[in-house]
Amino acid sequence: MDFYEVIKKRKSIRKYKSDPIPDEVVNKILEAGRIAPSAKNIQPWRFIVIKNPDIKKKIAEACRGQLWIADADLILVGCILEKIAWGRMGGYMSSGPVDLGIAIDHMILAAANEGLGTCWIGAFVEQDVKDILQVPEDVKVMALTPIGYPAEEPKDRGRKDQKEIVSYDRY
Ligand SMILES: Cc1cc2nc3c(=O)[nH]c(=O)nc-3n(C[C@H](O)[C@H](O)[C@H](O)COP(=O)(O)O)c2cc1C
Repeated sequence: MDFYEVIKKRKSIRKYKSDPIPDEVVNKILEAGRIAPSAKNIQPWRFIVIKNPDIKKKIAEACRGQLWIADADLILVGCILEKIAWGRMGGYMSSGPVDLGIAIDHMILAAANEGLGTCWIGAFVEQDVKDILQVPEDVKVMALTPIGYPAEEPKDRGRKDQKEIVSYDRY
């Protein structure tokens, strides 16, 4: 698929078929994340792929009761290894969330290219997710997404016009 078509085609999917995703497709998606750029090429991330139905259900509950997440074939959880992330981005912040955000977006777009649905999940109770997945104390859970075959075709949700968000030569 053309790159811009993939970007346009990606939409948040909140209804999934239970069909399994072939391993080679899952692998392509994971590779898209693995080769993503990161500050100083530190790659301060860990990706957890959840396929076990009981664990998926527990994770969906930890996502503030968004139980539909567990219907997807798998759930991807993105963690930041905050201790090794570059801490001086722009002179003031950790690169960890940016690094992981780029990698997850690579994976989400790769999934869209494979005809799969995803939905970035930011509403979750981090400590609950950490407890379920035995994530070490100094590692942060930042992003989750179900990945599975879509059972809905949502309409375009619209965006601000370019003139509202872009300026040239000054703010
Ligand atoms: C950081 C972030 C957190 C989000 N958290 C949730 C969430 O917890 N549950 C959910 O259903 N959608 C969540 N979304 C999806 C957004 O609602 C969605 O991307 C937005 O409405 C635009 O729709 P679209 O993705 O179909 O273009 C999140 C998206 C982002 C980027």
